[in-house]
Amino acid sequence: MKPDPVRIGVVGSVNLDIVASVRRFPEPGETITGASVERHPGGKGANQALAARRLGADVYLLACLGADDMAGEALAGLTQAGVNLDFCRYLDGYNTGLALIWVSDEGENKIVVAPGANAAFGEDQLELPHVDALIAQLEIPQDTIIAAARGNNAFLTLNAAPVRPLSRQLLERTDLLVVNEIEARAVGAELTGFSGMIATTYGRNGASLRQGGREIARAQSPRVRAVDTTGAGDTFTAALTVGLIEGLDPQAALERACLAAAISVTRPGAQGSPTREELAAFTPD
Ligand code: RIB
Repeated sequence: MKPDPVRIGVVGSVNLDIVASVRRFPEPGETITGASVERHPGGKGANQALAARRLGADVYLLACLGADDMAGEALAGLTQAGVNLDFCRYLDGYNTGLALIWVSDEGENKIVVAPGANAAFGEDQLELPHVDALIAQLEIPQDTIIAAARGNNAFLTLNAAPVRPLSRQLLERTDLLVVNEIEARAVGAELTGFSGMIATTYGRNGASLRQGGREIARAQSPRVRAVDTTGAGDTFTAALTVGLIEGLDPQAALERACLAAAISVTRPGAQGSPTREELAAFTPD
């Protein structure tokens, strides 16, 4: 029977995103001017926690931030939405993670992350509430994710972003791996023998879900006017996990995740994920 509401633990990163909007990206060695700059809460872990919360889940964020002024700013949206932050740790001597992001007129982005406290998130800072599912990404050490997943049978979603070699131990514990096309090419060879589900996202062309070498679901994205694609994968990851844990069949869960991600790109910043009511009210252009 599906738990109601589902309990999701997100073990991952928190960043403050400094976003420069530019007409086009500069070439190497080129200076361009005329950008406008905004600060937004971000980090893949925080974005996914908020997206799951907006879909009605009880969400616990397990993360490390700096003991600095940026921490509160980075967590503002989660605080407001009611994500449980009791398992966040604030580390002396570290900065809160910082992401420098360029967003072009087409809504595409380029991101450089200075991880700060995210990289210092070790087993010592980890305490885990009882949850139905854990969601993790690769902006924190993989050993910490393995430790979080050890000793419980929570469903484990791993968003393999940013790309890095995957720990075999972590893969063996993973139930759902989420990758975009670039990440899929990078980790493809490591997935031999992987028995979980693999969700691959194709941007505006939707997503597929495969298991055991077979496609079990495919969904299109509705056409929307993209303003900022940053965080679309985070919304997708959270929505797919919440849907599957709620007991939706794979096709319905994938369609909902594509719709949630599409709505998120119509808003600036990485935390534009929709509520359940906004999903229901969506009408295509
Ligand atoms: O997935 C988008 C996120 O990647 C941004 O919010 C940024 O902080 C980086 O972690």
